[in-house]
Formats: sequence, C-alpha cells, structure tokens
Amino acid sequence: MRKTCRVMLRDQVFSARRGDILLDAALANGVDIPHDCRSGHCRSCRVRVLDGVAIGGECGELGAVRACQTRIMSDLRLEIEGLPKIQTAVGEVRAIKKRARDIIEVAVAPLQPVTYLPGQYLRVQFRGYPARCYNPTASMEELREREFLHFQIQRVRGGRVSTAIGSDIREGHRVKLQGPYGLAFLRPGSMKRLVLVAGGAGFAPVWSIAVAAIKEHQSRNIVMVVGARSIECLYMINALCMLARYPNVTIIPVVGTPQNLSTTIRIGSIADHIPELSPEDAVHACGPPRLVEAVSKIAAATDAPCYCIPFSPQYADERAPSRLLNWFNDVKQYPIVAEGVSRHSGPRRAQARAAC
Ligand code: FES
Repeated sequence: MRKTCRVMLRDQVFSARRGDILLDAALANGVDIPHDCRSGHCRSCRVRVLDGVAIGGECGELGAVRACQTRIMSDLRLEIEGLPKIQTAVGEVRAIKKRARDIIEVAVAPLQPVTYLPGQYLRVQFRGYPARCYNPTASMEELREREFLHFQIQRVRGGRVSTAIGSDIREGHRVKLQGPYGLAFLRPGSMKRLVLVAGGAGFAPVWSIAVAAIKEHQSRNIVMVVGARSIECLYMINALCMLARYPNVTIIPVVGTPQNLSTTIRIGSIADHIPELSPEDAVHACGPPRLVEAVSKIAAATDAPCYCIPFSPQYADERAPSRLLNWFNDVKQYPIVAEGVSRHSGPRRAQARAAC
C-alpha cells in the first residue's frame, strides 16, 4: 500500500503521508482549509470528501468530516463546505470613478447573480482584454447598495488593462466574471475582534469584510489600520469616517509621509500601528507583499489567525492579488489560511507597501 497520498482541494493539490491529519497536512503544504479551534469543536474546518477514504472526524452528514480530526487514508478529492460554487457570469461596466492618482473604481452590473464571500476574488475579463483577478468590494458611499460589484484597480504604467479603463473601457463595456476564488474570507458567525490591515488597493477586500461584518453584527469589534503613501492617497477616508460611527469600530489611518492635516492620521509604517494582538483576534492583511508578510509575522507571534491577501504585479502589467507561491513557502511555518488573489486567503501573512 502506498505511503504517500495525493490530496486535491479545489484547484490545489498536495501530497501527504497516509495517516496524516488532513488539516495539519494541508496547512503544512500551504493549502488553507478554514479552521478555528483545531480540536474538533467549532466545525469550521468541515470538508466534503468527494472521492477517497478519510477516517475520523465525521460530522453526521454523509461525506462531511472535520479536517482537524480526520486522517488521510487514500488519495482524496475534497470540497470545502459552505464555499460558493465557482460560476461564470457576464455583466457590463456601469460607472468608473477615479479614487486617487492611480486608483480607479469600476462598478460592474452583473446580468446574473454572483455569489462570493467578503475577501474572495473574481477573474474579471473586460471584453477584448486579458482576464485579471480583482476583489469585489462594497460601495464606499452607500453601505446597503448591492446592485453593483465594485472593483478598485491600481493603474499600472504600461498595464494593458488598467490603462485602458476610462479610455477604451468605458460605461457599457461587457465584462465576463468567473469565481469566486480564495479562502481569505470573513468567517461568518464569528464574534472575534477583527483587525483589518490594508495598504493601497488592498483596501478593497478589507472594506468588503468590514461592511459585511458590520451588517452581520452592528456591535462587532473592529480595528481598521489603513495606510497610504501620502494624505492625498487616502482615498477611502470618507468611507472610514462612515464606519467609525459604529460603536466598536476603531479606525487608524496611516500615511508614509509627514502631514499637518490631523493628529488622528498617524505617520510611518502601517505594521507599526497594529494594536496588540491575541489568539482571540482574527486578522486580515491585504496589500503589498511586504506589508502582508510583516503583519503575518506579528500575528503568528501572538497566535492570532491571520488571513492574507498579498497583491503583486504578477501579471507584469497589472497589480493584482496573486498567489505568491515562493512567498508562501517562506511563511509556511505559520498556519496557512489564505491565498492572495490569485490565491489569497489563509492564516497568517502580510503584505505591505503603502498605496497609491
Ligand atoms: S472543529 Fe474546529 S477547527 Fe476543526
């Protein structure tokens, strides 16, 4: 009998030894399975076994097991319980707004419903252009608006897609949407304090998570540490003020260059302004890889779960969240719960770099 088994989870594949605990093996290979207690109680690690044999951790539903309690006994094909199915939809651009010097927001009206969890991303293909991965986010003006998918896109010099937005890509342009992907989403039902850290266009997924968390529980304890290079780049400041009206929301804006506008806005590195963490927190870090890595290390030192969405210019011409496999390898000593848009989600990691 073979000692090594092949485990397939959505679009990810890893090898594990026969008899390994599924969750441990997945995390050790940089593959995220949503989890919390790791002791069999919370059921947040439930997966469905589509093919193969796993022993232990049964949930009382046919094929469903708790990954932290089940052992791999053969090759497995798995699906994570509760994740929206990957689907394809079409839509059209309804509005384009310039948010900062190099951040554009595109509102897309899908012609079919698109289901995703806050923090997940979609493959977005404007007709005639290559597909890119972007996180849909909530409106920054109206928290209840659900008609459009809002994408905040960093304009990259020479970028084939981002430079066409507003010129060739205009209102009415057709868009193909595929997804959702990614595991760095807001865990529903949790009342842990949320510590949301974003640099630059990494604000989009963090905003999506914050708005969903507040809709779920208006008294949710949330700390948002949001940074940009300069005061002019803090394009989200009005949205942050809107969220600050909720009783347990703390906003910490940070800029890299000195400013005299307000003492509320802190100066320096985003990671230096993260509050003290504990295992009772849930941290989401989104933005440039250096920031995400710094936050993930801080979270790991305190055993706080950290879900990371590193954005990198993986596609040569666009700054999109990407699954930074090398980087994942560097940090896989931490439980991995995530991936970056192009593979984001997961526990612990960070990316940084102020934004626009
Ligand atoms: S039951 Fe809580 S992580 Fe598995």
